[in-house]
Formats: sequence, C-alpha cells, structure tokens
Amino acid sequence: MEMTRRRLLGQAGVLLVGSGLAGRALAANPTMPMAMGPFYPVQQPSDADADLVQVAGRPGKATGKLIEVSGRVLNMKGEPVPGAKIEVWQANAAGRYAHKSDTSKVPLDPNFEGFARLVADKDGAYRYLSIEPGAYNVGRSWRAKHIHYQVDGQLNRLVTQMYFKGDPLLGQDETLAQDLNQKLNGPMPPLIFGQALGRRADGVERLGFDIILIDG
Ligand SMILES: [Fe+2]
Repeated sequence: MEMTRRRLLGQAGVLLVGSGLAGRALAANPTMPMAMGPFYPVQQPSDADADLVQVAGRPGKATGKLIEVSGRVLNMKGEPVPGAKIEVWQANAAGRYAHKSDTSKVPLDPNFEGFARLVADKDGAYRYLSIEPGAYNVGRSWRAKHIHYQVDGQLNRLVTQMYFKGDPLLGQDETLAQDLNQKLNGPMPPLIFGQALGRRADGVERLGFDIILIDG
C-alpha cells in the first residue's frame, strides 16, 4: 500500500490525499521511486565510506572517470532531513557489480568499492566520490548508466536511481521505461539525472542529485 501511494506520488506529484501535506505550500515534487534491481549488496563490504574509488588496505584506485556526487535530502516543503541514511551502489566502469548474482563475464575491479553508506548532515547534505558506472547488458536489452540509492529519512524510505544525461542507452532501457510507466524512447523527466555542477579544482566532474522525500 505504501509503495503504491509512493509510486502514484512519484509519477503524478500532485496526488496528496492522505499524505499529510494536502493544502500546504510545496517546494518540490518527490523523487520518483524506481526499481531496486537484483544487485543490492546483501553482503555489504567492510569499507563502505564516501570514497568508492579506494578500498581500505589497497594502494590502487578504481578504473574509470571520476565523479563527485552531492546533494541534499529534503522533504516536499524544502526542509532538510538531517540524519537521513543514504546507501548507494553501482556497477564498476566496465558495467559489473561485485555481487554473486551478477554472472556477467565483464571483469570486477578490486579497487572499486561499489557501495557506500552515508548519513546526511544537519542541512540534509551528502557527498561521495565515485566513478561513472558502465552500462550493462540484461538479457536482450541494456541498462543505461545509473547509480542506485536507498534513502531512509525520518518518515519515508525511498529506493531510486540516478541517471546520466546524454547516455545513448537511455531510450533503450526497459527497466527505466517501466519505472517511468512509459514505452521505450519516451520523454525523460529532468530530475532523474545528475545535474552538472561544473568541476572541482582537480578536474573531477561534479554532479548534483537532491532527494525529495514526501514527508521527510
Ligand atoms: Fe543497476
């Protein structure tokens, strides 16, 4: 029932009956719920910090294009959700998950953490350093590049995914089309994408991804 309501809210953004927010001024539509997928790390690595490109005890760095992702966890009134727990997990640059259910022949990257457990600060803010994930094949079709999120606020849990603008596979991703409740090559809502925030002084590309929970 809760997932159904969230799904409706995620897609319509205006169906507020029963949410406790009806009639109040709202700053933003909630982030769209999306599939969790088969690769949530049930066996979580001991190193799950905000630097995914270096594994504790290993000298090497993950292969791939570095990205710094940051954002805030907010409620629909635009108020921060301090202490929100954020888990992110993703494929490596070659499109492989460090998960026993990922039977792809694509190589693992022993220097890539693939998972982070974060806590939003007093402003609801979070940040992590990673690499742009690779796309991966699922049977007949491809998954566009994406990073999975599970966010536990004070009242809501949200499972979603962040996508990358300009990815040529976006229109062919059947999982994404299903999450958006549309056919392949349908219109893409802008807020599913990491937003370009320029580059750090060291050249690392910065992406912004705010998470809007219904109640917080
Ligand atoms: Fe995935």
